[in-house]
Amino acid sequence: METPPPAAAAKAPLDKFVRRSPTASSSPPAAAAVQTAPAGRALVEIEHLDFFYGTTQALNDISLAIDHHKVTALIGPSGCGKSTLLRCLNRMNDLIDGTRIARGSIRIHGVDINQPDVDVIELRKRVGMVFQKSNPFPKSIYENITYGLRLQGLKDKARLDEIAEKSLRGAALWEEVKDRLDESALGLSGGQQQRLCIARAIAVEPEVILMDEPCSALDPVATAKIEELIQDLRSRFAIVIVTHNMQQAARCSDRTAFFYLGRLIEYANTRDIFTNPANPQTEAYVSGRFG
Ligand SMILES: Nc1ncnc2c1ncn2[C@@H]1O[C@H](COP(=O)(O)OP(=O)(O)O)[C@@H](O)[C@H]1O
Ligand SMILES: [Mg+2]
Repeated sequence: METPPPAAAAKAPLDKFVRRSPTASSSPPAAAAVQTAPAGRALVEIEHLDFFYGTTQALNDISLAIDHHKVTALIGPSGCGKSTLLRCLNRMNDLIDGTRIARGSIRIHGVDINQPDVDVIELRKRVGMVFQKSNPFPKSIYENITYGLRLQGLKDKARLDEIAEKSLRGAALWEEVKDRLDESALGLSGGQQQRLCIARAIAVEPEVILMDEPCSALDPVATAKIEELIQDLRSRFAIVIVTHNMQQAARCSDRTAFFYLGRLIEYANTRDIFTNPANPQTEAYVSGRFG
C-alpha cells in the first residue's frame, strides 16, 4: 500500500515568480509589493485587457476573474480571441513578434504578471498549458514527466520516480503505462498522449492549467476520459479550457465566458449561460444559430 506523501508545505503564493532584487536599494524590494491575494479575490484577475498582434486588435477591453478549484470554459466562434486570451495568462504571446498589451492588466494572486521583474519561466510552471495537438517529447513516457524536473536540477532518482507516479496517477494514466515507462511516448494512443501531456503539466505543480481545445483531435471515448479527468483535477487546480464543443463546456465547466469578435459578451455560471443567457448574442450562439 502506498504511504501518503508528507503534508505539503503551504503553497507559496505566486510571488515566487517575481525576481527579487539581490541588492538592497532605497525602493522596497519587489516582494514587498507582492502579496497573496486577499480573501475574496479571484486567483486570476484580468482587467480591461486590450491585446494586439501588430496593428490588429484581438482582445478588446476584457475583464474576467478566474477562481481556484473551478473549471472556466472559454467559448465563441473561431477567431474571437479565446486562444489569444489563454496565451496571455502565461505570457506565451511573448514568443510571437509584434504582440503587445496596450491596456489593462492580468493579476495572479494579485501580482501583475506583465511587470518587468516577473520570472516568465516560473510563471509558466505555475500556469501550465495543454495544447490541441498532444505534443509529447520523442522520449520515453518516464522522461516526458521527469525531463523538465531534471533540467531544473532535480537529480534524486527516488524523488523523480515518486513525482512521475504521482503525476501519471493524477492524469489517470498510471495503470495504463506503469509497466512500460521506458517505452516511447509516441507509441501511446492520441488520448493517452494527451493525458501524458497533462501529467507533464501537473509534474511541476502548477496552480492553473490552461487547455486549448484539448479534445478536438480525440475520439469520443478518449474525450470522455479527458472530461472525467478535468473533473478530478478541479479539486487541485484552476482549469481554463477553450472548447468549441458546447456540450463539453456545458458538461465540464463551472463558469463559461462567451467571446465574440475579441470582446467578452457574457460571463456567468455555466448553467445560466446555457439555459438562461442574459445576452441575445450568447443565446444565438449556444443555441447553434451561428458560429
Ligand atoms: N500569431 C498571430 N498573428 C496575427 N494574428 C493572429 C495570430 N494569432 C491569432 N491572430 C488573430 O487574432 C484573432 C483571435 O485569434 P485566436 O485567439 O486564435 O481566436 P480563437 O482561439 O478564438 O479561434 C483572430 O483574428 C486571429 O486571426
Ligand atoms: Mg483557438
